[in-house]
Amino acid sequence: MSQNVLITGTNRGLGLEFARQYATAGWQVFACCRNPHKADALQRLKLKQGEMLSIHALDVADFARIDQLAKQLSGNTIDVLINNAGVYQYGGESFGSIDYEACLQSFRINAMAPLKMAEAFIQHIANSEQKKIINITSKLGSIDDNRSGHHYLYRSSKAALNMVTKNLAIDLATYGITTIVLHPGLVQTDMGGTARRPRWSKASPACVRLSRVSAASTAADFMTSADKKLLGNPWKIHAVEVN
Ligand SMILES: NC(=O)c1ccc[n+]([C@@H]2O[C@H](COP(=O)([O-])OP(=O)(O)OC[C@H]3O[C@@H](n4cnc5c(N)ncnc54)[C@H](OP(=O)(O)O)[C@@H]3O)[C@@H](O)[C@H]2O)c1
Repeated sequence: MSQNVLITGTNRGLGLEFARQYATAGWQVFACCRNPHKADALQRLKLKQGEMLSIHALDVADFARIDQLAKQLSGNTIDVLINNAGVYQYGGESFGSIDYEACLQSFRINAMAPLKMAEAFIQHIANSEQKKIINITSKLGSIDDNRSGHHYLYRSSKAALNMVTKNLAIDLATYGITTIVLHPGLVQTDMGGTARRPRWSKASPACVRLSRVSAASTAADFMTSADKKLLGNPWKIHAVEVN
């Protein structure tokens, strides 16, 4: 029997690559994105993969829509939920020019939406074989690793996501659900491509491998794209360069 994965933010970047690699590996992919009609690369992937990939409109900031989608997919199990959709608010992240509306949006998308997704899809996940929730964080969300400041909205919302994940790991253990945060490493996407650091030329196959590796991991582990598990607590990690 094929396994099912639901991924948010699949129209570009890491989400698109997750969708491509899971579909290629024979998984049933529920690929979510804000605007399916504008998601050209995802639509092309759908043409190639056929029934193995379905596209669902989902703005993760719209919590009523999350509930609605959970209802629509109620006959399905979800082995792996990947909360991938995320934002970095260019222009509003620096001290002295913080954009507080953008700040609320960052927390809503990066931290609250993954929690809402877990609440809405709990039964789909609990009824599956793998029972996994993977929240895509960033090492910028690590408090202990923070040596350079800046990135207020992104860092603090990802730190909040790390705490949400730790809580879920504890609370959902009774369902047999494993919940982890995954730091994908620096990947050249629209978000990662502007960083002044070494880049990957494209999203790494290691991402998918990692999400599988997570089956063997204990709850709330923090992992990198090099398959190196960092210290158990993401807010206490020391950075490890990956690629
Ligand atoms: N790239 C890196 O180096 C890096 C490093 C560490 C962590 N990450 C994390 O990895 C994840 C993916 O990042 P990426 O590099 O692929 O970024 P990206 O290329 O900027 O893509 C972000 C994705 O999130 C979606 N998204 C944003 N807001 C959304 C919303 N309200 N509802 C639904 N989808 C929404 C975007 O959809 P639209 O096109 O509709 O905006 C897009 O599909 C993020 O959580 C990011 O924080 C990335």
